[in-house]
Amino acid sequence: MADINKLPVHVGIIMDGNGRWARLRGKERSEGHRQGAEVFREICTYAADLGIKYVTFYAFSTENWKRPQLEVSAIMNIFRTFLREAEERQQENEERGLRFRFIGDMSKIPGDIAERVKALEERTSDKTRTTVNLAVNYGGRAEIVKSVRRIAGMVKNGEIEPSDVDEKTIEEGLYTAGQPDADLIIRPSGEQRLSNFLLWQSAYAEFWYSDVLWPDFTKSDFDKALYAYSKRSRRFGAV
Ligand code: IPE
Ligand code: IPE
Ligand code: MG
Repeated sequence: MADINKLPVHVGIIMDGNGRWARLRGKERSEGHRQGAEVFREICTYAADLGIKYVTFYAFSTENWKRPQLEVSAIMNIFRTFLREAEERQQENEERGLRFRFIGDMSKIPGDIAERVKALEERTSDKTRTTVNLAVNYGGRAEIVKSVRRIAGMVKNGEIEPSDVDEKTIEEGLYTAGQPDADLIIRPSGEQRLSNFLLWQSAYAEFWYSDVLWPDFTKSDFDKALYAYSKRSRRFGAV
């Protein structure tokens, strides 16, 4: 087990490999997404029980709209199921101190989902133990563009001068405003890339990759990532 004093504060997880998991079993890709959602629930609970303060799960990217309509709507239905279950399990989640946040552009998401998202965020907004960010229609570049637009507006209105803009101003316009940077990014499925995830927030993140496909990912894989993280020497540019 990883040293409890060296747990990451913010873990990002790129839940990848659902499609390949399904194909290997001769199933539809949507079956892989369904199994992936089960694993999400398990790892989400586990991270909270370990006392991880922030966990960000990459569920759907701004680029994932390029997928077949049938797959996209299957994924949207999985979000619906998750949101319905979160309502049913409200007490359990509350006892666990889970706060849910959705990061990404919700204006492009079907209206019924966006409404339930808002309700879940409001219902859990006073919870402080573990914040679970679900990245849905999320793109790191789109997030930075959003922040830059906000700043351009402030300059235009004369609220600030261009020279007032610093890293903090940009951070305040991100979806993760007020949250610490990512310490550890986990990507299963054998791919070793960021795919537009937490670009700004991962400036000094540690990376952990695994060949395991997300639907096969277990608590023990999560432990391995935490253990590897606890052995890293983070220098942030210093000696
Ligand atoms: C990740 O699994 C889930 C989403 C991107 C929505 P994939 O669907 O990308 O699975 P692979 O990479 O095709 O195996
Ligand atoms: C990243 O996975 C997005 C999510 C896991 C939600 P992708 O499968 O979309 O990434 P690429 O296309 O392999 O880079
Ligand atoms: Mg993929």
